[in-house]
Amino acid sequence: MVSTVPSLLAISLLLVVVLAAAAMECPCSWREDNRSWDCVKDDVISVPTVCWPLHANVDKIVFQNPMREVYSGDFDHENLRNLTKLQMQNVDKIADDALHGLTALRYLDLSGGNLKHLPDLSTLAEVVALEAGGNLLVEAPSLAHMKNLDLVSLFNNRIQFVPDAFLPASPVPIGMTMVRNNFTDLNATSIVNAAAQSSFVFDDLQYLWATVEERDTILEKEFYCNIDLESIIRVTDDPTNP
Ligand SMILES: *[C@@H]1O[C@H](CO)[C@@H](O)[C@H](O)[C@H]1NC(C)=O
Ligand SMILES: *[C@@H]1O[C@H](CO)[C@@H](O)[C@H](O)[C@H]1NC(C)=O
Ligand SMILES: *[C@@H]1O[C@H](CO)[C@@H](O)[C@H](O)[C@H]1NC(C)=O
Ligand SMILES: *[C@@H]1O[C@H](CO)[C@@H](O)[C@H](O)[C@H]1NC(C)=O
Repeated sequence: MVSTVPSLLAISLLLVVVLAAAAMECPCSWREDNRSWDCVKDDVISVPTVCWPLHANVDKIVFQNPMREVYSGDFDHENLRNLTKLQMQNVDKIADDALHGLTALRYLDLSGGNLKHLPDLSTLAEVVALEAGGNLLVEAPSLAHMKNLDLVSLFNNRIQFVPDAFLPASPVPIGMTMVRNNFTDLNATSIVNAAAQSSFVFDDLQYLWATVEERDTILEKEFYCNIDLESIIRVTDDPTNP
């Protein structure tokens, strides 16, 4: 009895130390072959910044669990400067500047969460594929600076507003889906710069407001679309103010 009290104390102290160490441990698995952090594990519920110092030159990070919030600074680490792929499905909220430093990103998947807005993407010029379907977005992002963009997936949101600087002018045809959103009119300015033969999928699109010049460009570019664009074009002098 005399000796069990101190040893119980010792054991519980040890337990506290072990638990604290576990909390500091990186919960993701590193794959050297593709230089990726695989964070597809049940216990990953926030961005595990404790992992970032462990390996230089990370190429990919994959998450899958629901995450409530991604904070400013969560991806600000030297070792992530070359990151090309970030898959972070099922996130509720992302701080506006959280992705600022990831300037090499090519594949960004933020689908299937509860995002009401996307974070600022203005520093990400190399993006090839942006996936943000299945969120709560009310505005489409400005992507005009992404000159290599070829896939845009924004289906199943609540998009009501599509900015003028939506699709980039580039030689790469874009595939874009925007079904299941909340707009029935679109300004031609938002899509007219896309490469010829880009393909778009919309639902319920009733009017495409265009200047004469925009209408001619759209017809010339022969976009593929599930809706006959020619039949819904309405010419106005100021398409953003029909
Ligand atoms: C890394 O490569 C392995 C197979 O070599 C693959 O199963 C895994 O999905 C890859 N991880 C990522 C994040 O691409
Ligand atoms: C990024 O990649 C280049 C080579 O492609 C390498 O020289 C550089 O060290 C990498 N930077 C980081 C921060 O990993
Ligand atoms: C078209 O532009 C006008 C004026 O900027 C804007 O109010 C309207 O929401 C735009 N349409 C869409 C679908 O974004
Ligand atoms: C968007 O459309 C859905 C289904 O048509 C509707 O239930 C919802 O209220 C709309 N949301 C907004 C913000 O207009």
